[in-house]
Amino acid sequence: MYKRFFELKANPFNVNPDPRYLFLTKQIEETLSSLMYGIQTRKGIVTLAGEVGTGKTTLVNRLLDWLHQNAAKTAFLFNSRMNSSQFFDFVLAEFGIRCESSSKSQQLIKLNQWLVERFRAGETCVLIIDEAQNLTFAVLEEIRMLTNLETYTEKLLQIVLSGQPEFEEKLNLPQLRQLRQRIMIRCKTGPLTKEETHSYVLERLKIAGAAANGPPIFSPAARDAIHLYSLGVPRVVNLLCEHALINAYVEQQRPIQPKIVEDVAREFRLDVVEPTATPEGLRTSAELYNSEAFIQNLGEVLSRFRISQHSQPARERK
Ligand SMILES: Nc1ncnc2c1ncn2[C@@H]1O[C@H](COP(=O)(O)OP(=O)(O)OP(=O)(O)O)[C@@H](O)[C@H]1O
Ligand SMILES: [Mg+2]
Repeated sequence: MYKRFFELKANPFNVNPDPRYLFLTKQIEETLSSLMYGIQTRKGIVTLAGEVGTGKTTLVNRLLDWLHQNAAKTAFLFNSRMNSSQFFDFVLAEFGIRCESSSKSQQLIKLNQWLVERFRAGETCVLIIDEAQNLTFAVLEEIRMLTNLETYTEKLLQIVLSGQPEFEEKLNLPQLRQLRQRIMIRCKTGPLTKEETHSYVLERLKIAGAAANGPPIFSPAARDAIHLYSLGVPRVVNLLCEHALINAYVEQQRPIQPKIVEDVAREFRLDVVEPTATPEGLRTSAELYNSEAFIQNLGEVLSRFRISQHSQPARERK
């Protein structure tokens, strides 16, 4: 509804992980390069860990685009709540491998044959699992077994596991040490610095069609406020910006002033946050974004960042 007022062609701050809007900081570029390097050099397992809303799924989607451009075969599992037998069903279905039998050994034989054929044809096969923090020990053990599918020199299947910090904590458990030893590269996503938050907002507006030489949509002070309340977490930045655009449209205000952002932050209880949700309570799904629980999770994430920022020397804080 605000698009005409702000002369935009699209909504700039959608909360879906659209790779067209990918904003590359030095850290994100390095992370993406590490993921690509891990796959190209057939390292076996590569992990991607980061707090809620810091861009893991967005990055994974970008990686998938790149893999498809390079004719790789991919299987992407975004629903990680599954048992072992569902896991194999999903992997085979995603790779498009036909198997009449539902027995695990038959499925593994089929998968192995198919991977060997792909390898001989010079193709790379990649299994990507998002929300890996929800994987059970049983499924993680199956994943470890998949890394045994190899030639004398190379892994046949490259695996990317992406998840929230609880996933990394889980990997440190003694019962997962064999899997842990097989992880060759560990990548991370994190919050944006203040300067990056400014550029992120401007970049998304530009992609959504904002004129380069028109009057600014957000005043620099409003962008400062966005960073202050979001702590640089892109999903929270999007939430603040989207609602600020709506409210500013109602008030017919351009450039948007910090007061609008402050009001939105207050409305979403981003101004005073206490750790309320347990890490196990952190979930991600489309319906969550508008729910009470989502707001509560944002509070949890932001308070975690606040705690970690306070434990850093002041000069490292941005
Ligand atoms: N580098 C980025 N460039 C552009 N948009 C981004 C970037 N990182 C995150 N976003 C935006 O922030 C929102 C959250 O990102 P995303 O869903 O990728 O986070 P996540 O780390 O997967 O979160 P969760 O742990 O909840 O699954 C999305 O709307 C996405 O568009
Ligand atoms: Mg995600």
